[in-house]
Amino acid sequence: MLLRKLLISPFLAFHFLGGLAQNGNLPHASSNTTLYLSAVVNSPTAPYHAIIECWALAAPFIRYHTVGKALDLGDTSNATYVVLPPRSAEGWHRPPHPMFFILLSGLAHVRTYDPADDNMNLPSQQELSMGLPKPTESLYITPGVDSLIIAVDTDKRSPGHLTYYPSDVEAVALQIPFQDGKVPKHTVVHPGPCQADTEHRVRGKDRNT
Ligand SMILES: *[C@@H]1O[C@H](CO)[C@@H](O)[C@H](O)[C@H]1NC(C)=O
Ligand SMILES: *[C@@H]1O[C@H](CO)[C@@H](O)[C@H](O)[C@H]1NC(C)=O
Repeated sequence: MLLRKLLISPFLAFHFLGGLAQNGNLPHASSNTTLYLSAVVNSPTAPYHAIIECWALAAPFIRYHTVGKALDLGDTSNATYVVLPPRSAEGWHRPPHPMFFILLSGLAHVRTYDPADDNMNLPSQQELSMGLPKPTESLYITPGVDSLIIAVDTDKRSPGHLTYYPSDVEAVALQIPFQDGKVPKHTVVHPGPCQADTEHRVRGKDRNT
Protein backbone atom coordinates (compact mmCIF):
# COMPACT_ATOMS: atom_id res chain seq x y z
CA MET A 1 0.00 0.00 0.00
CA LEU A 2 2.75 2.42 0.97
CA LEU A 3 4.82 1.44 -2.04
CA ARG A 4 1.81 1.87 -4.27
CA LYS A 5 1.29 5.37 -2.94
CA LEU A 6 4.93 6.20 -3.51
CA LEU A 7 4.84 4.90 -7.03
CA ILE A 8 1.80 6.88 -8.04
CA SER A 9 3.09 10.12 -6.57
CA PRO A 10 6.05 11.47 -8.53
CA PHE A 11 6.77 13.97 -5.74
CA LEU A 12 6.94 11.34 -3.02
CA ALA A 13 8.80 8.94 -5.27
CA PHE A 14 11.43 11.61 -5.82
CA HIS A 15 12.12 11.83 -2.08
CA PHE A 16 11.87 8.10 -1.56
CA LEU A 17 14.39 7.32 -4.30
CA GLY A 18 16.59 10.26 -3.31
CA GLY A 19 16.82 8.85 0.22
CA LEU A 20 17.78 5.42 -1.06
CA ALA A 21 20.46 6.85 -3.33
CA GLN A 22 22.03 8.82 -0.47
CA ASN A 23 22.20 5.64 1.60
CA GLY A 24 23.85 3.90 -1.32
CA ASN A 25 21.14 1.22 -1.32
CA LEU A 26 19.75 1.78 -4.77
CA PRO A 27 19.78 -1.54 -6.65
CA HIS A 28 21.74 -0.21 -9.57
CA ALA A 29 21.52 -3.23 -11.84
CA SER A 30 17.72 -3.10 -11.97
CA SER A 31 16.90 0.56 -11.68
CA ASN A 32 16.11 3.29 -14.15
CA THR A 33 16.70 6.03 -11.58
CA THR A 34 20.50 6.07 -11.33
CA LEU A 35 23.12 7.54 -13.61
CA TYR A 36 26.49 5.76 -13.68
CA LEU A 37 29.54 7.69 -14.84
CA SER A 38 33.19 6.75 -15.11
CA ALA A 39 35.44 9.11 -13.16
CA VAL A 40 39.18 9.77 -13.30
CA VAL A 41 40.26 10.51 -9.72
CA ASN A 42 43.43 10.53 -7.63
CA SER A 43 44.28 7.53 -5.50
CA PRO A 44 43.51 8.54 -1.89
CA THR A 45 46.93 7.30 -0.75
CA ALA A 46 50.51 8.10 -1.85
CA PRO A 47 51.66 8.51 -4.59
CA TYR A 48 48.15 9.86 -5.42
CA HIS A 49 48.32 8.63 -9.02
CA ALA A 50 45.27 8.79 -11.27
CA ILE A 51 42.84 5.88 -11.09
CA ILE A 52 39.49 5.19 -12.74
CA GLU A 53 36.26 4.49 -10.82
CA CYS A 54 32.63 3.85 -11.70
CA TRP A 55 30.37 6.28 -9.84
CA ALA A 56 26.64 6.24 -9.17
CA LEU A 57 25.44 9.82 -8.89
CA ALA A 58 23.31 10.46 -5.78
CA ALA A 59 20.83 12.68 -7.64
CA PRO A 60 18.09 10.41 -9.03
CA PHE A 61 16.38 10.60 -12.38
CA ILE A 62 12.93 12.12 -12.09
CA ARG A 63 10.21 12.29 -14.69
CA TYR A 64 10.85 14.94 -17.32
CA HIS A 65 7.88 17.25 -17.76
CA THR A 66 7.18 16.12 -21.33
CA VAL A 67 8.35 12.52 -21.79
CA GLY A 68 11.23 10.50 -20.37
CA LYS A 69 13.36 11.41 -17.39
CA ALA A 70 15.88 14.01 -16.24
CA LEU A 71 18.62 14.26 -13.64
CA ASP A 72 20.15 17.32 -11.99
CA LEU A 73 23.91 17.37 -12.60
CA GLY A 74 24.41 20.26 -10.17
CA ASP A 75 25.93 23.71 -10.59
CA THR A 76 28.61 24.30 -13.19
CA SER A 77 30.69 27.38 -13.85
CA ASN A 78 31.33 27.74 -17.60
CA ALA A 79 32.00 25.70 -20.71
CA THR A 80 35.00 25.33 -23.02
CA TYR A 81 34.89 23.82 -26.51
CA VAL A 82 38.13 21.94 -27.25
CA VAL A 83 39.29 20.54 -30.61
CA LEU A 84 41.97 17.82 -30.60
CA PRO A 85 43.69 16.89 -33.88
CA PRO A 86 43.26 13.41 -35.42
CA ARG A 87 45.64 10.76 -34.01
CA SER A 88 46.97 13.09 -31.32
CA ALA A 89 48.04 12.66 -27.71
CA GLU A 90 48.05 15.05 -24.78
CA GLY A 91 50.88 13.50 -22.80
CA TRP A 92 50.86 13.74 -19.01
CA HIS A 93 48.28 16.25 -17.85
CA ARG A 94 45.77 17.03 -15.12
CA PRO A 95 42.30 18.38 -15.80
CA PRO A 96 42.38 22.21 -15.57
CA HIS A 97 39.49 22.07 -13.04
CA PRO A 98 37.32 19.34 -11.49
CA MET A 99 34.85 18.95 -14.33
CA PHE A 100 32.52 17.08 -16.62
CA PHE A 101 34.20 16.06 -19.88
CA ILE A 102 31.85 15.41 -22.79
CA LEU A 103 33.11 13.99 -26.05
CA LEU A 104 31.08 15.25 -29.02
CA SER A 105 33.07 13.55 -31.79
CA GLY A 106 36.12 11.35 -32.32
CA LEU A 107 37.40 8.89 -29.74
CA ALA A 108 39.32 9.47 -26.50
CA HIS A 109 41.40 6.88 -24.66
CA VAL A 110 42.45 7.70 -21.10
CA ARG A 111 45.36 5.69 -19.70
CA THR A 112 46.37 5.59 -16.06
CA TYR A 113 49.48 4.00 -14.59
CA ASP A 114 50.13 2.72 -11.10
CA PRO A 115 53.75 3.64 -10.32
CA ALA A 116 53.91 0.68 -7.91
CA ASP A 117 53.21 -1.80 -10.73
CA ASP A 118 56.26 -3.78 -11.91
CA ASN A 119 58.42 -1.42 -9.83
CA MET A 120 58.17 0.73 -12.91
CA ASN A 121 58.28 4.49 -12.74
CA LEU A 122 55.73 6.38 -14.76
CA PRO A 123 56.71 6.29 -18.44
CA SER A 124 58.43 9.46 -19.63
CA GLN A 125 57.25 11.44 -22.66
CA GLN A 126 60.16 9.96 -24.64
CA GLU A 127 59.34 6.39 -23.65
CA LEU A 128 55.75 7.03 -24.57
CA SER A 129 56.70 8.25 -28.04
CA MET A 130 58.70 5.05 -28.61
CA GLY A 131 55.93 2.65 -27.66
CA LEU A 132 53.37 2.48 -24.90
CA PRO A 133 53.72 0.35 -21.80
CA LYS A 134 50.38 -1.32 -21.01
CA PRO A 135 48.33 0.97 -18.78
CA THR A 136 47.01 -0.15 -15.41
CA GLU A 137 43.58 1.06 -16.46
CA SER A 138 42.01 2.25 -19.69
CA LEU A 139 38.90 4.31 -20.24
CA TYR A 140 37.50 4.71 -23.72
CA ILE A 141 35.21 7.67 -24.27
CA THR A 142 32.92 7.27 -27.26
CA PRO A 143 30.36 9.83 -28.43
CA GLY A 144 26.80 8.59 -28.09
CA VAL A 145 27.75 5.60 -25.93
CA ASP A 146 29.64 6.87 -22.90
CA SER A 147 30.38 10.42 -23.95
CA LEU A 148 30.07 11.95 -20.47
CA ILE A 149 32.72 11.35 -17.79
CA ILE A 150 33.99 13.10 -14.67
CA ALA A 151 37.61 14.26 -14.51
CA VAL A 152 38.79 15.25 -11.02
CA ASP A 153 42.40 14.01 -10.81
CA THR A 154 43.67 17.53 -10.17
CA ASP A 155 46.06 16.66 -7.30
CA LYS A 156 49.38 18.37 -8.08
CA ARG A 157 51.33 15.56 -6.34
CA SER A 158 50.45 13.37 -9.36
CA PRO A 159 51.32 13.94 -13.03
CA GLY A 160 47.69 13.15 -13.91
CA HIS A 161 46.86 10.82 -16.78
CA LEU A 162 47.49 10.34 -20.49
CA THR A 163 44.82 10.91 -23.12
CA TYR A 164 45.01 9.74 -26.72
CA TYR A 165 42.72 10.70 -29.59
CA PRO A 166 43.27 7.77 -31.95
CA SER A 167 40.52 8.43 -34.52
CA ASP A 168 41.07 9.73 -38.04
CA VAL A 169 38.83 12.72 -37.39
CA GLU A 170 39.22 15.65 -35.02
CA ALA A 171 37.98 14.94 -31.52
CA VAL A 172 35.72 17.66 -30.16
CA ALA A 173 35.06 17.90 -26.44
CA LEU A 174 33.27 20.13 -23.95
CA GLN A 175 34.90 20.85 -20.60
CA ILE A 176 32.37 21.94 -17.99
CA PRO A 177 33.90 22.69 -14.56
CA PHE A 178 31.84 22.25 -11.39
CA GLN A 179 30.89 25.46 -9.61
CA ASP A 180 33.55 26.15 -6.93
CA GLY A 181 35.10 22.75 -7.75
CA LYS A 182 32.24 21.00 -5.92
CA VAL A 183 32.08 17.36 -7.04
CA PRO A 184 28.52 15.93 -7.47
CA LYS A 185 27.39 13.65 -4.60
CA HIS A 186 27.99 10.04 -5.54
CA THR A 187 28.90 6.57 -4.36
CA VAL A 188 31.75 4.51 -5.84
CA VAL A 189 30.27 1.38 -7.45
CA HIS A 190 33.55 -0.35 -8.34
CA PRO A 191 37.13 0.38 -9.39
CA GLY A 192 37.72 0.81 -13.12
CA PRO A 193 35.39 2.19 -15.80
CA CYS A 194 31.63 1.60 -15.61
CA GLN A 195 30.72 -1.55 -17.49
CA ALA A 196 27.66 -3.14 -19.01
CA ASP A 197 26.62 -4.77 -15.70
CA THR A 198 26.09 -1.45 -14.00
CA GLU A 199 25.07 0.48 -17.03
CA HIS A 200 23.04 -1.69 -19.39
CA ARG A 201 25.45 -0.24 -21.90
CA VAL A 202 28.71 -1.49 -23.30
CA ARG A 203 31.62 0.37 -21.80
CA GLY A 204 35.18 0.48 -23.07
CA LYS A 205 37.52 -1.94 -21.38
CA ASP A 206 41.17 -2.32 -22.20
CA ARG A 207 41.25 -3.25 -25.86
CA ASN A 208 45.06 -3.44 -25.95
CA THR A 209 45.51 -0.55 -28.30
C1 LIG B 1 11.19 3.90 -14.81
O1 LIG B 1 10.58 2.97 -15.70
C2 LIG B 1 9.18 2.84 -15.48
C3 LIG B 1 8.67 1.72 -16.39
O2 LIG B 1 9.22 1.83 -17.68
C4 LIG B 1 8.47 4.18 -15.76
O3 LIG B 1 7.08 4.06 -15.56
C5 LIG B 1 9.05 5.22 -14.80
O4 LIG B 1 8.49 6.48 -15.07
C6 LIG B 1 10.57 5.29 -14.97
N1 LIG B 1 11.12 6.23 -14.02
C7 LIG B 1 11.66 7.36 -14.41
C8 LIG B 1 12.21 8.22 -13.31
O5 LIG B 1 11.73 7.70 -15.55
C1 LIG C 1 35.78 28.65 -15.81
O1 LIG C 1 35.57 28.11 -14.53
C2 LIG C 1 36.75 27.76 -13.84
C3 LIG C 1 36.35 27.05 -12.56
O2 LIG C 1 35.38 27.75 -11.85
C4 LIG C 1 37.57 29.02 -13.60
O3 LIG C 1 38.74 28.71 -12.90
C5 LIG C 1 37.93 29.62 -14.95
O4 LIG C 1 38.64 30.82 -14.77
C6 LIG C 1 36.65 29.89 -15.75
N1 LIG C 1 37.02 30.30 -17.09
C7 LIG C 1 36.63 31.45 -17.60
C8 LIG C 1 37.05 31.74 -19.00
O5 LIG C 1 35.96 32.25 -16.96
